[in-house]
Amino acid sequence: MEEVFRAVKVTDRVYWVGVIDWALRNFHGYTTREGSTYNAYLILADKVTLIDTVKAPYREELLARVASVIDPRKIDYVVSNHSEMDHSGSLAWVIEVVKPEKVLASVMGAKALKEHFHWDVEVVPVKSGDEVDLGGMKLSFIETRMLHWPDSMFSYLEGEEVLFSQDAFGMHLASSELFADELDRGLLEREAATYYANILLPYSPLVLKLLARVRETGLKPRVVATDHGPIWRRGEDIAWILGLYERWALQKPTKKAVVVYDTMWGSTALMARTLADGLAAGGAQVKLMPLEGSHRSDVAAEILDAGALLVGSPTLNNNLFPSVADILTYLRGLRPQNLIGAAFGSYGWSGESVKQVREVLEAMKVEVVGEVKSKYVPTREVLQECYSLGLQIAQRLVEGDE
Ligand code: FEO
Repeated sequence: MEEVFRAVKVTDRVYWVGVIDWALRNFHGYTTREGSTYNAYLILADKVTLIDTVKAPYREELLARVASVIDPRKIDYVVSNHSEMDHSGSLAWVIEVVKPEKVLASVMGAKALKEHFHWDVEVVPVKSGDEVDLGGMKLSFIETRMLHWPDSMFSYLEGEEVLFSQDAFGMHLASSELFADELDRGLLEREAATYYANILLPYSPLVLKLLARVRETGLKPRVVATDHGPIWRRGEDIAWILGLYERWALQKPTKKAVVVYDTMWGSTALMARTLADGLAAGGAQVKLMPLEGSHRSDVAAEILDAGALLVGSPTLNNNLFPSVADILTYLRGLRPQNLIGAAFGSYGWSGESVKQVREVLEAMKVEVVGEVKSKYVPTREVLQECYSLGLQIAQRLVEGDE
């Protein structure tokens, strides 16, 4: 293995020793069409330090990359920045093989690792501002609770100015290029936005606080080494991704309206198309997302920069259509902000779905501007109602965007 999987130099003292998961297509319900990486880093200082590990099936690949630069048994410290299994799944095995002097994690991380794995390993808890001397180089810690787990933290290597940011500023993108400056900006923005929408969106107020804290402390990393996707090593790229995070966290509404729906016999789809026609005529930018061909993680990504969310569902057995229930449950958990919206759908005899859509939208704090119901196939009047509602929502979006 050692001859095959090699470490990649990031700075004089830091090496990437992670794994590229080209085959990943499902990350707890988030469709990862571009695969992902589980990044781990080796710091070659007097105290050799491993930052994070990888998903369990890839543990040997991780140590093979370490072995390409140093005997893994020479690792003194292992730092767990985040206890989710894609980064901690091989931690117990690595500790057993390497027998490090210390394992470090945030206060919540030490607790989470114990609760997660029910183990007896002693984990040294560290707090924001704590430092560990690696021998001529200091590693300091910044707790980032709820970004996106209670245990999450950043580690910062002084001297090399490397910020190990775990999930933050990352993306699910497998590529043989390990640095962001080697990849297309359009691809980076799409995948980073999809990642933000599906993982970090509920914690946007904390993202804004963290960005303010970083500005106040004057921290100016030369490299941002994330746990997923490419490493940011150019100042302009680091400024760019920080700027995007600020924009996404603010969720300032735009003229974009996302129309999400499913249909049984085409009536709710016809209503969706008519709403889209009204929205476009009113000057909105429209994205129609039939759930038959749109995955929930793609819908979340589209909503990240939208100003309106319109949801349509037929009534099936007195209930929401199952795919619509799925997307509403998912979006409700992601807590998007500053949206206006509408509920619509066709029914045969009971017609509960529109009320149920409206209730979920209201629970999400979406301002529901209107709703349209159609008994069986939409009449000319019902379609006129859809068109007018589309126009009305577009007008609100255009006014808000001025
Ligand atoms: Fe990449 Fe939250 O784990």
